[in-house]
Amino acid sequence: MATNITWHENLTHQEREALTKQKGLTIWLTGLSASGKSTIACALEQYLLKHGHNSYRLDGDNIRFGLNKDLGFSEADRNENIRRISEVAKLFNDSCCFTITSFISPYRNDRRTARELHAKDNLPFIEVYIDVPIEVAEKRDPKGLYKKARDGIIKEFTGISAPYEAPEKAEIHIVNDNITIEQAAEQIVEYLRAHQYI
Ligand code: ADX
Repeated sequence: MATNITWHENLTHQEREALTKQKGLTIWLTGLSASGKSTIACALEQYLLKHGHNSYRLDGDNIRFGLNKDLGFSEADRNENIRRISEVAKLFNDSCCFTITSFISPYRNDRRTARELHAKDNLPFIEVYIDVPIEVAEKRDPKGLYKKARDGIIKEFTGISAPYEAPEKAEIHIVNDNITIEQAAEQIVEYLRAHQYI
């Protein structure tokens, strides 16, 4: 535990918003592996960037291969994975960036902690549930991981041998079955428009 550290007085978040002419926002995608989170996150990020909103996506590729490369998939490691991601997302958000996170984040308690961390600093947090039935995710199985989980090669696999606790009141609920990626991303864009974030 660090001691003797002091907090420097700095710009307020509102002053930063005025100077950068941008708002901060965390768009937190949660859902099973192969539910479409990262594809939707990519489409959304591109849409927002093309429309002049500084946006950045945090996902397995840039977090689990870097900052969190010491973590696996036990419950404790997933808790720590999401705790660090929550802190990083909060910083991006505070810097007035639209921050899109794309992680299974299977535990309700971890997602609540992420939300509370943002609320403490008055930073907006939008939870998006990318909902597909496990049968659909398992049928898609783009990386062959569900098969490996069924065969017992991968332990503690979400939806098979580890829990996924679906959100009870996510701001946005996307049933990502029989719709296009554009339609899924559009649901988020509509929400952002309706709430005057864009
Ligand atoms: S989380 O549960 O800690 O939020 P995260 O989203 O970072 O998970 O990583 C999930 C991705 O890692 C999956 O989409 C899949 O590609 C891969 N993966 C590897 N092992 C597992 C596992 N045991 N359970 C779930 N996903 C796994």
